[in-house]
Amino acid sequence: MCAKPVVITIDGPAGAGKSTVSRLVARRLDFVYLDTGAMYRAVALAAKKNGVDLEDHQSLGALCDKLDISFDNTTDPPRILLDSRDISREIRTPEIDMLASRVSAIKEVREAMTSLQRKVAAEAGKVVAEGRDMGTVVFPSARWKFFLTATLDERARRRYEELIQRGEKISKSNVAKEMKKRDEQDSNRALAPLKPADDAMIIDTTNLSIDQVVNRICDIVDSTISQSQK
Ligand code: DC
Repeated sequence: MCAKPVVITIDGPAGAGKSTVSRLVARRLDFVYLDTGAMYRAVALAAKKNGVDLEDHQSLGALCDKLDISFDNTTDPPRILLDSRDISREIRTPEIDMLASRVSAIKEVREAMTSLQRKVAAEAGKVVAEGRDMGTVVFPSARWKFFLTATLDERARRRYEELIQRGEKISKSNVAKEMKKRDEQDSNRALAPLKPADDAMIIDTTNLSIDQVVNRICDIVDSTISQSQK
């Protein structure tokens, strides 16, 4: 196990392109991709399946302690497993979007996920950690920190396309409305709110292609690595 992992953090609101970009950056640099939003989604799904009341923080904390959340990185994108069962598809629904945002505001849940995220990173050695609080709370001393943003319109458009491709029946205006609500919840919560770390590089992806964002991040990482080798 590597005690101090090498970490690239990529934070930002929903639909800013974090997941695709993080996955591609990890693949190109040979890092492990850590999707922390998927972990909060797994907790939300488990709470729903087990009938745990989201107001009952103690029971949610107890649920987190006994959940077995892991990633199978042999596939691309990696699959998320809950008690060894692949839940990658099941967690990507509008209902779980909102439930994950709600459970992620709860202290007991955040504590459990933060320590699991640090453990996964220590085991992996080199990670691209994607989420909301990677650069601010979970890996404050990460070597590289990025924060991706885009206009609400553009983020809603991207998420709408994604949901339609998956066969969800939803209107574009509803996607925008829910996304705005989720942004507000994620940004205004007391614990580890969505915000850029003071030392994060902010990239507005509104008019950039995925490749352009990936290239920009990889160039920055590569140039600091080559400078430190001089
Ligand atoms: O990135 P995502 O949409 O899959 O994340 C789902 C929810 O999980 C999001 O609304 C906020 C929460 N989350 C968080 O609070 N902290 C993280 N590091 C990642 C996600």
